[in-house]
Amino acid sequence: MTNPGLEGVEVADTRISDVDGERGELIIAGADVERLAASAPFEEAVARVVEAGGGDRAALTRAAIGQARAAAWELVPRLGDALDHPDGMDALRTALGHLRSTGDDTGDALAAIGAAPVIVAAWSRRRAHQAPIAPDPALGHAADYLRMTTGNAAGSAAMGALDAYLVTVIDHAMSASTFTARVIASTASDLISALVGAVGALKGPLHGGAPGPVLDMLDAIGAPDRAEAWLLGELAAGRRIMGMGHRVYRVRDPRAAVLEEAVRPLASPRLELARAVEGAAAKILLERKPDRPLAANVEFYTAVLLDAVGLPREQFSATFAVSRIAGWSAHVLEQHRTGRLIRPSSRYIGARP
Ligand code: COA
Repeated sequence: MTNPGLEGVEVADTRISDVDGERGELIIAGADVERLAASAPFEEAVARVVEAGGGDRAALTRAAIGQARAAAWELVPRLGDALDHPDGMDALRTALGHLRSTGDDTGDALAAIGAAPVIVAAWSRRRAHQAPIAPDPALGHAADYLRMTTGNAAGSAAMGALDAYLVTVIDHAMSASTFTARVIASTASDLISALVGAVGALKGPLHGGAPGPVLDMLDAIGAPDRAEAWLLGELAAGRRIMGMGHRVYRVRDPRAAVLEEAVRPLASPRLELARAVEGAAAKILLERKPDRPLAANVEFYTAVLLDAVGLPREQFSATFAVSRIAGWSAHVLEQHRTGRLIRPSSRYIGARP
């Protein structure tokens, strides 16, 4: 028997993060996600995961990450058609490919972590026919990303919520995109190539492409009392409920609670609706699949939070990548240290001569 989804297969020893799907727990570089999101700015989380991956923590200071954003600004005029992609993930994938690998993993990681928000914000503004805005290396990563996107200084509530989001999604064990990055790194290829591949893996709606569709769903439902009928219609049409279910979690994704809490100070009109839709979806899915727990995943409240801080929904998946690029980088560092090629097998079921 083959195992095409590789469920339960452990392919790496890692110090970067750990997911307990039965208990709904996520540890990131030694800290519970709840505590990390409440106490550390994104830059601190970056330093922690890169250090856990075996990199030099001292190279990932707030000042260094700010300088990396400033350095990436030089890249923007050279990106040409990359910023014209209708999909932000395609734009990010193409633009990251412009970064030159130096062979120094920590230095390349720093360059890519700094470049991601600059690229995504410039792409978002191009879509809106607006000129890109240069980074301000003195600001925090979250605040600068918001400012480069919207053109306005970020309010403290929005900045805090976005910072908590970026910390919350920075790493998640052997997700499909992380595995992709590690497979590429395992061939002794460079960190930038691994990141480009990881962006491609994250783009799919079964992985990181769900938060935009979650917001579309909330808009389509419109009011709590319409949730049940709408959701039943989706299932009858053979579609999945976006933002529900997870490969590993058998309980509610702990990141859903962290983000639900982080969005509260923003008083989003969508929060109450989201809670009602989640409740209705959980009830219906329990009736449909009593043996397969399907609860809210990270994308459900990602949609509410990123909308509330003022990012357009087309930018949601790429915003996930702005954070996860740090986790991927840490995994590439860790994988490079093992030196082991990842090369599984397949079972031939075709014709034989
Ligand atoms: N809505 C409706 N049914 C769902 C569902 C959802 N969101 N998620 C899973 N199911 C159903 C599947 O159709 C399947 O039913 P079947 O056995 O009758 O075919 C059953 O539950 C088991 O699903 P399976 O495909 O084995 O789960 P998985 O581990 O491969 O899937 C996801 C995990 C995340 C891909 C899946 O839950 C999903 O597609 N969710 C919606 C997209 C999403 O939110 N993605 C972001 C993930 S962070």
